[in-house]
Amino acid sequence: MNKPGLRKIVLLHGHPDPDRARLGYALADAYERGARSAGHELHRVDIADLDIGFVRSKRQWDEELPAPEIRALRERVEASDHLAVFFPLWLGTMPAYCKAFWEQLLRTGAPQNGSATAPSILRGKSARIVVTMGMPAFFFRWYFGGHGVRSFERGVLKIMGASPVKTTLLGSVEGRGEAGYRRWIAEMNELGERCN
Ligand SMILES: Cc1cc2nc3c(=O)[nH]c(=O)nc-3n(C[C@H](O)[C@H](O)[C@H](O)COP(=O)(O)O)c2cc1C
Repeated sequence: MNKPGLRKIVLLHGHPDPDRARLGYALADAYERGARSAGHELHRVDIADLDIGFVRSKRQWDEELPAPEIRALRERVEASDHLAVFFPLWLGTMPAYCKAFWEQLLRTGAPQNGSATAPSILRGKSARIVVTMGMPAFFFRWYFGGHGVRSFERGVLKIMGASPVKTTLLGSVEGRGEAGYRRWIAEMNELGERCN
């Protein structure tokens, strides 16, 4: 049992690239540091370190158990209070490898009440989505309606019970400059501290 105010966080870093120099790692690191310094319990997964296969059929979805490490992670997710989800925007949405990860995480491989989708496993959990992108964030929101992120927010996290789900869009990553990166790192650190 955690002390009052201290929460169990699962940080899911959905960057397919294992190169630790990518910005996403620095942001996830900052969130992790903030959360740990405040005393929250945090379990982190960098999906680039996992060997994730694609779900290719309904039969597989319904009947084939996900890999043991994915099942163990799902148990951690179920036992958590808060999810911190990071990914870069690729072709307007999350990278395919990241989507493949979520498809593996959210299926049971063993139907209960006719469904092999993990039933409401996110109920009662809050979530923060952090997405980096090349275009300006306002342009993604205004011109694209933020669809590639909203479909994940509403069609995956919220529909499986997470609430509230908050989103941070970090745009124009290439031209940000040192001071801009430092502000983002500080922002992530603070979000982690507040488990937000
Ligand atoms: C395959 C690929 C597709 C991308 N597609 C988009 C896109 O559709 N829109 C966008 O704004 N940026 C796009 N980008 C830029 C990435 O979002 C950006 O490089 C990333 O968020 C930077 O974070 P990182 O250093 O952690 O990779 C793309 C980058 C790659 C490699």
